[in-house]
Amino acid sequence: MKSFDLRSDTLTLPSKDMRKAMYLADVGDDVYAEDPTVNKLQDLAAKITGKRAALFVSSGSMGNLIPLYINAGKGGEILTQKNSHIIHYELSSVSALAGAMPVAVEGERGILTPAELEKHLRPDIYYMPRVKMVEIENSHNKEGGTCYKLNELKAVSDFARKNTLKIHMDGARLFNASEATGIPVKKICSHVDTVTFCLSKGLGAPVGSMLCGSEKFIAEARRVRKMLGGGMRQVGVLAAAGIYALENNIKRLRIDHANAKLLAETLAEVSWAEIDPGNVETNILYFSTGERKAETVVASLAKKGILSSALDSNSIRFVTHLGISEEDTQEICKILKGI
Ligand SMILES: Cc1ncc(COP(=O)(O)O)c(C=O)c1O
Repeated sequence: MKSFDLRSDTLTLPSKDMRKAMYLADVGDDVYAEDPTVNKLQDLAAKITGKRAALFVSSGSMGNLIPLYINAGKGGEILTQKNSHIIHYELSSVSALAGAMPVAVEGERGILTPAELEKHLRPDIYYMPRVKMVEIENSHNKEGGTCYKLNELKAVSDFARKNTLKIHMDGARLFNASEATGIPVKKICSHVDTVTFCLSKGLGAPVGSMLCGSEKFIAEARRVRKMLGGGMRQVGVLAAAGIYALENNIKRLRIDHANAKLLAETLAEVSWAEIDPGNVETNILYFSTGERKAETVVASLAKKGILSSALDSNSIRFVTHLGISEEDTQEICKILKGI
């Protein structure tokens, strides 16, 4: 039986051509900043995001932790949407390692607004913590792959600047957000001080994320990366996969989005799932299983060859990616209709 893995876009496998690029990569010691392929990837990431510099880091989690450590560490507060990845899925590294306090802010569809942020500002009183940062997630994983519209981004960015707060974007799926909204990547990034994006999700590289910001910030980030044990040596072999991903796998993200939409439309027709396909913006979709236990539905789907993840007791996540073709999606839809 053919199996379709919709659990996550982190499951993508490096293609033959990507592996070839890895095999052929020139390498050097990156702790000495002497790996030419890593340097090329960092220059490319800086150029794509419109930032002055970039740093290759091992994961999205490390790419988020470093700016939070630098800009809010030792007791600062970070305003972040209540369902953000840094709150739910990064093992409390914000508090355990950065020494900062994440503050869960309300935000529909994962989107922060000045009105909600304002509620968490504090007077400058010696016995209160200092609010240091705003952290936004674009696209937003736990809220269903939702994206900031330009006016929403500008409003949050203006708020942060007005209140002299640094603003970091968890852009693990930055290119999905750009593809879905039509806002160029550079324009999105112009509204934040620092941004992290992942090479290892929909872009199909086996590992790695890029942290981008000013030259001064990245120089400091390089120190913190080393402190966290993230100094890497001849990692040009991995950076080559990242370069390949950026050069070849961005344009095709629209296919993942169209496939997700088709799956949502099909789920909207079956009796055992509830979803509004209009809410599906990118490659992530959640649907409710109503009275049925999500775990039971996940098991039934797995028996038919569809792998998915239960988010909570009655909702399930599907994620489309480069391992799921348009033909696969048609087949999945047929299976879903037959259940
Ligand atoms: C929105 C978001 N941010 C950060 C991460 C962390 O990435 P990593 O698993 O590479 O640490 C993920 C991972 O799925 C994510 O979805």
